[in-house]
Amino acid sequence: MHTFTTVEALREQVRAWKHAGLRVGFVPTMGNLHDGHYSLVGLAHAHADKVVASVFVNPTQFGPNEDFARYPRTLDADAQGLAAHGCDGLFAPTVAQMYPCGAEQAVQVRVPGITTILDGAHRPGHFDGVATVVARLFNMVQPDVAVFGRKDYQQLRVIDYLVRELAFPIAIIGAPIARAADGLALSSRNQYLSSAERAVAPEIHRALLSMRAAVQAGQSLKAVEAETAARLTAAGFAVDYAAIHRADLSQPADDERSGLIALIAARLGSTRLIDNLALGETAA
Ligand code: PAF
Repeated sequence: MHTFTTVEALREQVRAWKHAGLRVGFVPTMGNLHDGHYSLVGLAHAHADKVVASVFVNPTQFGPNEDFARYPRTLDADAQGLAAHGCDGLFAPTVAQMYPCGAEQAVQVRVPGITTILDGAHRPGHFDGVATVVARLFNMVQPDVAVFGRKDYQQLRVIDYLVRELAFPIAIIGAPIARAADGLALSSRNQYLSSAERAVAPEIHRALLSMRAAVQAGQSLKAVEAETAARLTAAGFAVDYAAIHRADLSQPADDERSGLIALIAARLGSTRLIDNLALGETAA
């Protein structure tokens, strides 16, 4: 696996691959990689000949009281894991390479509309930071295909919008959510959980499964949302939202039953967890 420390070296290699007729896939990450990330690398390989992953803890997508400082940074282990999973290139830029004029003076990309609801409402500015860094990464890597996990469902919709609006010639692929055996969606933030919190955390996935069953049984969407929030609160979560939306994240009518997705964000102690489930799906 090549490790690129400059944009120039990265671009030169990507150019050579493309010149040889090879398709280039891209997996952007913030590092501290787990099996969920490695499944994205596997999916990228199914759509491309060469796969580049980036590791960059992006300061502009964290709010002032969020976990930027304590976000786990494990670049050596990440590099080993990526190589073991057949990744062809690792790009790990510094903050100065990503934001040459400084993060405060960065040209920003702002996606309107869907960035103001759900996580956008609870993490103001978060999606501006995501859109800004992903546009830069796309420019630096210049991939043909990029893979994003469906756990960050709203982020995936934001990236779709960004690519369409800015005409990036990149196919965006959403990867299935990787889960632990007890249903908890894999996330680098799971390691913040105490063992007592870790035992409670799969309740989010169980709540999503119950939301699906209740919606399929014909219960009103508003009632399902309210009951889910109450259930999670009783289990010890501070709930940001337990919501049902259309797949494009617009608001459904209360009697709509197709093309819906349930989304939850809730905190256990200092750890914020998110998860979602397409309500038409039969698989867990
Ligand atoms: O999903 C993530 O890990 C990050 O939001 C991303 C897409 C790598 C941008 O920093």
